[in-house]
Amino acid sequence: MSPSYQADSDISLDDVHYAPFAAGERRYKLLGEVAGKRVLELACGAAQNSVALSRWGANVVALDFSSRQLSHALSLRRRSGTRFDLVAGDMEAPTMFRDESFDIALSSFGWEFIPDLRGCVAECARLLRPGGQLVMCTVHPLSAFDWHGAERELRVTSYFDPPVEIWEDPVPEGHSPGLTFFRTIEELVGSITDAGLMVDRLLEPYPAADGEGSPYGGRYWGDHRDRLARVPFAVVISGRKV
Ligand SMILES: C[S@@+](CC[C@H](N)C(=O)[O-])C[C@H]1O[C@@H](n2cnc3c(N)ncnc32)[C@H](O)[C@@H]1O
Repeated sequence: MSPSYQADSDISLDDVHYAPFAAGERRYKLLGEVAGKRVLELACGAAQNSVALSRWGANVVALDFSSRQLSHALSLRRRSGTRFDLVAGDMEAPTMFRDESFDIALSSFGWEFIPDLRGCVAECARLLRPGGQLVMCTVHPLSAFDWHGAERELRVTSYFDPPVEIWEDPVPEGHSPGLTFFRTIEELVGSITDAGLMVDRLLEPYPAADGEGSPYGGRYWGDHRDRLARVPFAVVISGRKV
């Protein structure tokens, strides 16, 4: 789905994005000053976040396991004139990086695709220097449930047992279907605190008013605007290695 994702999502190269139509890092200031910091972007996709972070002076490594997404990242890196490393690899096993070699490890919308969240967060904790920051931007558990447009309401069948969604997209030969793992807030926060990190901020980004500008939107999201204005799509949790 890489070509359609890139065509339908309108993701800016000038900000770190946290949710469709919502404000990004320029407004939330979760990361603080990044100039000179070493940043790992996991599941970078076309690496729009990495382009923005590089423009702000960070020393970035971007990782994804999809060759199609990485080829989009290569062309955005070239077009933007930025410099950062692009690495093909699995975010569940970033074993190619040394202990305590990054100041920030972040991903916007990578965490929900990995079965072993706890293992991945523990690996991120290993990679962070003391004082380093993990930023988990992922799907909010309420986004697992069906929106009934006519009634403008969400039917939450069982919050405590969020579903694993099996994608309906056709599966190419030799591939397994895509899965999205929805997790409760307790499970997301627990994955961070169990890795020994201290949670210092939690955001539920809210769609900005029209015209205020958001680093992330696009055709696909436009159809879901009513829902996005009423129910959080994303949760962003920041953890520190103390
Ligand atoms: C929804 S996209 C998000 C991409 C990008 N962060 C963004 O916000 O546009 C999810 C990305 O996760 C990547 N991904 C999923 N599982 C992964 C894994 N285990 N290791 C590395 N990348 C993974 C996919 O290839 C895809 O690029």
